[in-house]
Amino acid sequence: MDKLEMQSKDLVGVNIENIAKLFPNVITESKNEEGILEKKIDFDLLKQELSDTIVEGNKERYSLTWPGKKEAILAANMPINKTLRPVKKDSEDWDTTENMYIEGDNLEVLKILQESYLNKIKCIYIDPPYNTGKDFVYRDNFTGDKDEYLEESGQVDEEGNRLFQNNESNGRFHSDWLTMMYSRLKVARNLLKDDGIIFISIDENEVENLKKICNGILGENNFISQLVWNLKTGTQAGYFTRSHEYVLVYSKNKSVVTYFKDRSGGVIQHGALKKISKVNPASEVHFTAGSIEFEGEDAIFQGELGGSEKQFIKSDCMEFKNGLLKNDVVIEAGWAMKNQLLSWLRGEETFDSKGQRVLRFYFNSKGILFYEKERGTVHPKTVLDNVGNTKNGSDELKSLFGLKYFDFPKPTELLKYLIEIVTEKEDIILDFFSGSATTAQSVMQINADDGGNRKFIMVQLPEETNEKTDAYKAGYKNICEIGKERIRRAAKKIKEETNADIDYGFRVYKVDSTNMKDTFYSVNEIKQDFLTELESNIKDDRTSEDLLAQVMLDLGIELSLPIQSEKIEGKEVFYVADNALVACFDEDINEEVAKKIAERGPLKVVFRDRSFSNDSDKENIKEVFKKHSPDTDIKVL
Ligand SMILES: C[S@@+](CC[C@H](N)C(=O)[O-])C[C@H]1O[C@@H](n2cnc3c(N)ncnc32)[C@H](O)[C@@H]1O
Repeated sequence: MDKLEMQSKDLVGVNIENIAKLFPNVITESKNEEGILEKKIDFDLLKQELSDTIVEGNKERYSLTWPGKKEAILAANMPINKTLRPVKKDSEDWDTTENMYIEGDNLEVLKILQESYLNKIKCIYIDPPYNTGKDFVYRDNFTGDKDEYLEESGQVDEEGNRLFQNNESNGRFHSDWLTMMYSRLKVARNLLKDDGIIFISIDENEVENLKKICNGILGENNFISQLVWNLKTGTQAGYFTRSHEYVLVYSKNKSVVTYFKDRSGGVIQHGALKKISKVNPASEVHFTAGSIEFEGEDAIFQGELGGSEKQFIKSDCMEFKNGLLKNDVVIEAGWAMKNQLLSWLRGEETFDSKGQRVLRFYFNSKGILFYEKERGTVHPKTVLDNVGNTKNGSDELKSLFGLKYFDFPKPTELLKYLIEIVTEKEDIILDFFSGSATTAQSVMQINADDGGNRKFIMVQLPEETNEKTDAYKAGYKNICEIGKERIRRAAKKIKEETNADIDYGFRVYKVDSTNMKDTFYSVNEIKQDFLTELESNIKDDRTSEDLLAQVMLDLGIELSLPIQSEKIEGKEVFYVADNALVACFDEDINEEVAKKIAERGPLKVVFRDRSFSNDSDKENIKEVFKKHSPDTDIKVL
């Protein structure tokens, strides 16, 4: 029996828990007066979260800290004056695809996606530079001042001078890597669904530090596992041959993560009765003639059936003919899965509490009710065996291109395994260190196998390839070119091999400066006003499609939604997800055009201020909407 507490709630404790939900990284431990460790707020870090300049402070507490940690928090929270511009010529199946390939620095991309993909990603997989001293790390040229940062982040990384080889002789060897990872993971966390999972590939160089920053950013409670990826073969590393890597697994909110799915398949068959008891009292269920199968020769049963788990036939008899129940029957029993039984009898798609699909209920040859369900969950082993190794990854990529164009891609077997155990058929998978786009190929392969419609978002910096490499000589001047071409070739191969009817396309977007001309406006001001106040301050080289992308991002609409365009009276009108958003950025919109748009009853409509010749035209168009579609939310850019 639960004991009454008989005292008021520990409100400080409740407040700490609430703050922890918003900022898990500010929770720390420190000793109270009795010397006992308690959960505490790190007020310096909390202040840092709420400030747009560096906050000083230096108290002893349990935490991993390094020079640059506060800059990382600031960098993560700082808004940027950037947007995504569509690159149709590099895209495949632009009109229909829901996959995306985004070129740019991942911190900027993650920030740009904040509105549209907030809490929408089920699975993030990343394979960042391991900080081996040879791989390149991205330096966020953070200068400590908000305005300078905004200016800085407006610079395109064309000279490549923001990528540097982080040698161990660098006094900030670990700090630079941690600063780079911290800000990115912090922003990425917001995109995860509540039951979302992030997998991070890493090796022994940074695994301990990575785990500590993940504990901070995602919360120690949300740690799921540290998997060991068995490479089978290895390279000599000191006294040992290193034949494994790690995959850290964290959730956004472990309490709502229900299960990991098993891909080995198989069917579970089990009796559907339980011993009748106080916790499992008997109740009646009605079975209609023809509704349920029988695994035996024609037979008639009456009265009480079963051993310790009993089934009472309340009707005169229960008759089976040609493998089916012949008459309507009422049965009393202590049911093992009563809700699922009733749902299945109603003809609904039915799952058990672990999300395993119920295939059918049936009577066995002794007239006892059984169920059959897909074996859909396991507790996957912490050692990943038989999911390929780095050589398999290289061979796969080489088989698509003919030559070696990328160092150490991951094998699709590893990615397929990880993605499959956590995703459903409609989920979105994000990889923001996507390299040669192994993740995209793996998502397409899983979809081809199970007819799913999982969608991928790949993010990759256009890191230049070395002039001496075969990739460069073959015309792939940066890694994005390799990634995009890999997806095209993998798609073709999967289509040829499986003939599966899945999404093989992808929309390409590039990070660029905002479409708005006047950099005088800071992002905060733009956020509030840019759809209503600013006058024709759009850069000359920006197209209607550029504007549409920025409007979608600003309104929090997924970029992968279907976009159609149509000419009305010579004006180009865009329809996003049919009626969710209608946009027209042409000039001289007249009432006739407005009427035709309004008649479709869009949820939101966006014009340019310049779309109207004068204020009275603008008023007339407002009136048109008032009359034909009063609920439409009209915005002007
Ligand atoms: C280890 S590789 C990933 C390989 C990938 N898993 C594969 O199978 O091909 C890491 C990638 O992250 C990219 N990268 C590094 N810093 C980045 C940044 N700030 N934004 C986007 N990509 C970045 C690198 O260019 C590199 O291609």
